Amino acid sequence: MKVGILTGGGDCPGLNPAIRGVVYRGLDFGFDFVGIQEGWRGLVKGIYEPLTLESVEEIIYQGGTMLGSSRTNPFKKDEDLQAVLGNIKEAGFDAIVACGGEDTLGVAAKLYTQHGVPTVGVPKTMDNDLNETDFTFGFDTAAGVGMEALDRLRDTARSHRRVMVLEVMGRHAGWVAWYVGVAGGADWITLPEEPLDVDAMCAHLSAVKARGKKYALVVASEGTELPVAAEGEEQKLDAFGHVMLGDRNVGEFIAEEIQRRIGWETRAAVVGHVHRGGSPTLFDRVLGMRVGVKAAELVQDRQFGQMVALRGTEVMGVPIEQAVARLKTVPDSLVQMVKTTFK
Ligand code: F6P
Repeated sequence: MKVGILTGGGDCPGLNPAIRGVVYRGLDFGFDFVGIQEGWRGLVKGIYEPLTLESVEEIIYQGGTMLGSSRTNPFKKDEDLQAVLGNIKEAGFDAIVACGGEDTLGVAAKLYTQHGVPTVGVPKTMDNDLNETDFTFGFDTAAGVGMEALDRLRDTARSHRRVMVLEVMGRHAGWVAWYVGVAGGADWITLPEEPLDVDAMCAHLSAVKARGKKYALVVASEGTELPVAAEGEEQKLDAFGHVMLGDRNVGEFIAEEIQRRIGWETRAAVVGHVHRGGSPTLFDRVLGMRVGVKAAELVQDRQFGQMVALRGTEVMGVPIEQAVARLKTVPDSLVQMVKTTFK
């Protein structure tokens, strides 16, 4: 079988181990591999590279994706869709393994259901917001980077007797903020799952100060719903119609509110794309390899339209359509639990 592999959407550590996993297992079945560069853009434009044992052997510890990535949505323009379908035919692909999040896998699902393209999905996202799977690779590394940033902010916050607000990525799911805040011992955490209550946050920070603590740490998810919509603010959208959240300066807004309302000197810092760089953690390397291996097995079994999911300790195939039908956000039990960590 001739199998094309692509990686789409925001990159994250674990993509290279996943590519390696697909190739390693596929070689057992005698597959020929082609690397499709830059996500779905590579199929619109027909840009490929050879993918061999030698080209993937060393990439297990490398961040990013050797194939490149983009947020190209081929369903946006009919000519792009036709180009994708034409290139798949011309290249003679028997299967396409798409590694990505909600958007990239949404395209894989539609290509399969609407056009019969034999796709298999590998779930990746630092946001951990993909439904049907317990964890996605990239999350552990990205949240770990956020935790380290919070540890560093604690030192400077304590020295200057300040509040430090750390804005973390995660889009419309608060997984990264929740884990960073809990693991880093934050005094307050704001999540997209619950509108920001500035009064409650400031009252709590005042109480923290009153009990003698000389600094405080706040973790703010970039997707936090702010109490006042910035009037006239033009929202920038990506090719899939998602708001580009980094431009909203959530951390800065929260820091200004704290300083203005309770007079405690406050600074904001943003982790941003630093989350996504660096070597994948042990967890992300192993998960990447496991889901990659399983993806090759799904191709061998012709289980197309399926995505690999981690359920407990097992990896298994689930319909891609089901995985992209809705976002996996932080459940209310965890949203409530986190409040017991604010003392
Ligand atoms: O989906 C991953 C992610 O890192 C989000 O957490 C963030 O909102 C977005 O990508 C940033 O996208 P870009 O790399 O296009 O700026």
